[in-house]
Amino acid sequence: MRRAIYPGSFDPVTNGHLDIIERSCRLFDEVVVALLVNPHKTSLFSLDERIELLREVTQTMPGVRVETFSGLLAHYARAQTATAVVRGIRAVADYEYELNMANMNRRLAPEIETVFLMSSGAYSYVSSRLVKEVYQLGGDINGLVPSIVEAQMKEKLRK
Ligand code: PNS
Repeated sequence: MRRAIYPGSFDPVTNGHLDIIERSCRLFDEVVVALLVNPHKTSLFSLDERIELLREVTQTMPGVRVETFSGLLAHYARAQTATAVVRGIRAVADYEYELNMANMNRRLAPEIETVFLMSSGAYSYVSSRLVKEVYQLGGDINGLVPSIVEAQMKEKLRK
């Protein structure tokens, strides 16, 4: 049983995240999408909203489970008896941060490998932060996030 953890903040989940989850499913028997509980970070979507959105958009993907975690990712991955942590890399800007995290996580849990998947070209510039900014300033984000996410962002902006 090869289990991977795909951790993140997912505020909100984008089509770039979904692409990584789909591709991870081909490599692992089970993919646990692990949402970080971080009370110190302000988010557009509440934790419950993010969980619900993630569950909704991954419901047709066999082998995908959506969970939350707090504390160290390495400890969580070990408790889940994961083989690997999956991270997507978009551009070179992601590399240094991801390298440091992977090395630190390896130090904390050497038995767990970090597996990097290169973002598909279509999503190489897509991030939750940019999507939120563009949408809040009236830009079009069609095709960058699942339609349910876009609908909920519309609802939030309306309020
Ligand atoms: O989607 P993000 O915000 O880029 O995800 C970052 C995340 C959640 C993977 C990272 O912040 C994390 O693992 N946090 C948990 C705390 C931890 O383990 N910190 C040490 C990392 S080496």
